[in-house]
Amino acid sequence: MRAMPPIRLLPSLLSADFARLAEELAACKQAGAKMLHVDVMDGHFVPNLTFGPFIVEAMRRSTDLFLDVHLMMTDPQKYIEAFRKAGSDAITVHVEAVGQRQLEQVINQIRASGAQVGLALNPDTDPELWFWAFAKVDLVMFMTVYPGFGGQAFIPQVRPRIRATRAAFPTLDIQVDGGVARDTIPLVIADGANRLVCGSAYFNDKDKAGFIRWAEQQKPSPDASHVHPR
Ligand code: DX5
Ligand code: ZN
Repeated sequence: MRAMPPIRLLPSLLSADFARLAEELAACKQAGAKMLHVDVMDGHFVPNLTFGPFIVEAMRRSTDLFLDVHLMMTDPQKYIEAFRKAGSDAITVHVEAVGQRQLEQVINQIRASGAQVGLALNPDTDPELWFWAFAKVDLVMFMTVYPGFGGQAFIPQVRPRIRATRAAFPTLDIQVDGGVARDTIPLVIADGANRLVCGSAYFNDKDKAGFIRWAEQQKPSPDASHVHPR
């Protein structure tokens, strides 16, 4: 029997009201979230800016939920220790920002910091070029939009890549980020994703607890790991 990791919905705080951050974090916990997704943007790797370790540290003081920190930045290796010290539980870097030559070193650096290790891939990045690294990490995250902004439309062309990755890595945590909502969740779960980052769809939902419960009870199709990419 294949041990498929559990399905989790992670509210993406990019869509939260930062003027009421502590309340928003408490409401996520109240709604049943176990993990939160935190978007760090540098205005260089992506055309938008958010915040650095200082705000992650403020989040850490306001919640005991798992903080999954998504670094959309060039040279993320410069900031790994700072984000870990701020209270990140998992640190995800973009393979495009690190490159093949330095990736193993960066994976080891995150591991040594004590955080879980994640790798993110843009929609036009071929995962098979990075399979060698997937065996060394806790989480692979497929961007189903081009990173930088919340509220964009899901890019369905990423789906066969999720399937191919699930077929090769049956027990890996596979996360999707971008345009994840009630209509796309059954699709990505059928493809083999088990972690759902959800920004605008979660924060706009009137029944957040019901949304999390519904998403986390979805059943992966039993043969998702055997479906081959187109
Ligand atoms: C986008 C970020 C996402 C963002 C997703 O670059 O990485 O985490 O919050 O937002 P939605 O769910 O609205 O597409
Ligand atoms: Zn993100």
